[in-house]
Amino acid sequence: MLEYILYAVGGFVALCIGLVMYSLVPNPMGYFRMRRVFNTKLQEYLKVPLWRPMDGSFHEMQTDLIGFFKRQLDYGNLFGVIPLWYVFDPNLILTKPEDMKQVLFGDDLQYYRDNTCFYVMHMVLGKGIINVGGMEWRNQHRILYKAFAPDNLMYFRPAFAARARKMVDTFKAHAQSGEPIDLLKTMNEITLGVMIDTAFGNTLSHEEQSEMRHHLMYVIKQTTNFVHQVPLLRYIFADHTQLKRRLGEMHSLVETSLIRRREGKSFGEVCEVKRHMIDLIIEANHSESEDGYRMSDEVMRDNMISLMAAGTETTATAMTWTLYFLDKYPEVYRKVREENMNIDLEHLAEPGDLTKIVPYLTQVIQESMRMCSPLGNIPGRRPFKDMQVGDLVVPAHVPMLTFAHQIHHNPQIWDAPEEFRPERFAKDGEASRDRLRFQPFGTGRRYCLGKYMAMAEMQVVLSHMVRDLRFEYAGTAEGITPAFRPPTIQPRDGMPMHIKLA
Ligand code: HEM
Repeated sequence: MLEYILYAVGGFVALCIGLVMYSLVPNPMGYFRMRRVFNTKLQEYLKVPLWRPMDGSFHEMQTDLIGFFKRQLDYGNLFGVIPLWYVFDPNLILTKPEDMKQVLFGDDLQYYRDNTCFYVMHMVLGKGIINVGGMEWRNQHRILYKAFAPDNLMYFRPAFAARARKMVDTFKAHAQSGEPIDLLKTMNEITLGVMIDTAFGNTLSHEEQSEMRHHLMYVIKQTTNFVHQVPLLRYIFADHTQLKRRLGEMHSLVETSLIRRREGKSFGEVCEVKRHMIDLIIEANHSESEDGYRMSDEVMRDNMISLMAAGTETTATAMTWTLYFLDKYPEVYRKVREENMNIDLEHLAEPGDLTKIVPYLTQVIQESMRMCSPLGNIPGRRPFKDMQVGDLVVPAHVPMLTFAHQIHHNPQIWDAPEEFRPERFAKDGEASRDRLRFQPFGTGRRYCLGKYMAMAEMQVVLSHMVRDLRFEYAGTAEGITPAFRPPTIQPRDGMPMHIKLA
């Protein structure tokens, strides 16, 4: 009898230990990959202390981003490839141009993408393009690339202009109060609004669009909540059930929109956009292809959500930094405004190359993204097999990535990288020397699909803002330090701004 009791107690204790282990190790496979890194030549490059495996370099990136990059750069010049610990997932940061070329521009079928260690992000992106690799990525990319061709994005411009006009009116009214605003938050509202306006149009009612906006905002916030990554803790310390419910509601709203579009049903509400993302994707999905691949409704749905998630905070952060630099460099602001006063804002919503209409503003946006690259890091490419990269054998499954912010501040790549010089992006300027030096949208085969949309949105929205308004930074000098607030690089203490009439 005693024997059975002992077995039962032993079994119970083993179960408890198993559960505790399961809840503390968010990414067990990453742990094994980490052991493999130890067992290869790569361990020589390991610079993160062993006693801090859980948060890895993450803590350093949040508290001292610039210092972190500078230290990594020293290693990089020595070794070329540097590991970064990330929730038990050793990442290799590529710093040598030849290594970047090989991995980013090479045969994409040799790599896959696995975001499972970012549990919520993985769940939200589902079977969409950001989560997949290999042949599935190629097929989805062919369709989405067609849908997001620069000519198609012209349809969205009236929506950018309408949102900007509305926001300028709100800012003008607020300017009287003299109270600072949280610019980052406001910019997020604009880009979120633009996303919803351009994604579904009148296939969703006003109320349904508003629901979608609230769910998206909630879900984006939760993607980077560390507690959600940990299996048991996510139900105790984070409202994981609510997250799943909201994601489910987003799924059914996108599915409803797809059905209504196919049946030709709409709500007939006033709509500035002639064709929406959903139309462009459905149309591109039915275009001819050699192997007859078509995205299923589930994949289309996950891609709609992936596009909305990828294009909101990134674009808002880039515009926020641009307005900050316009305040910091009054001469640049004066030149942007001079250019702006010579154009008719109505033209920005019409077909035509925006870079030709606002060339200097475009350079300022690009230089701002060089100084503060909005996306902190890109998901790495994982080789299916061990791979020779430069003089290293990178073990299979270990993700390889680049850090735009590090490249953009490397004095061996840019002349005086800490100086704000929009002219670098003028024709034949420093930026045109090669494709690897400027990577806010990534580079190589998997560069950002929304690059042209984001650029056009920023050109239109910022043109409207600088015409009538001036922003004055209202925070402290330390508060503006760039910090990694996943997924973006933001000012450490947010961006409080006073609004003045220009
Ligand atoms: C300033 C704004 C933006 C920035 C800085 C940005 C940056 C990036 C970066 C760095 C990548 C990773 C590229 C790589 O893996 O090499 C990426 C991928 C992606 N972005 Fe953006 N992005 C922005 C706006 C947008 C917008 C507006 C959309 C869509 C509406 C979008 C959709 C995507 C998608 C779908 C991918 C995945 C591409 C793939 O895996 O093939 N992005 N973006």
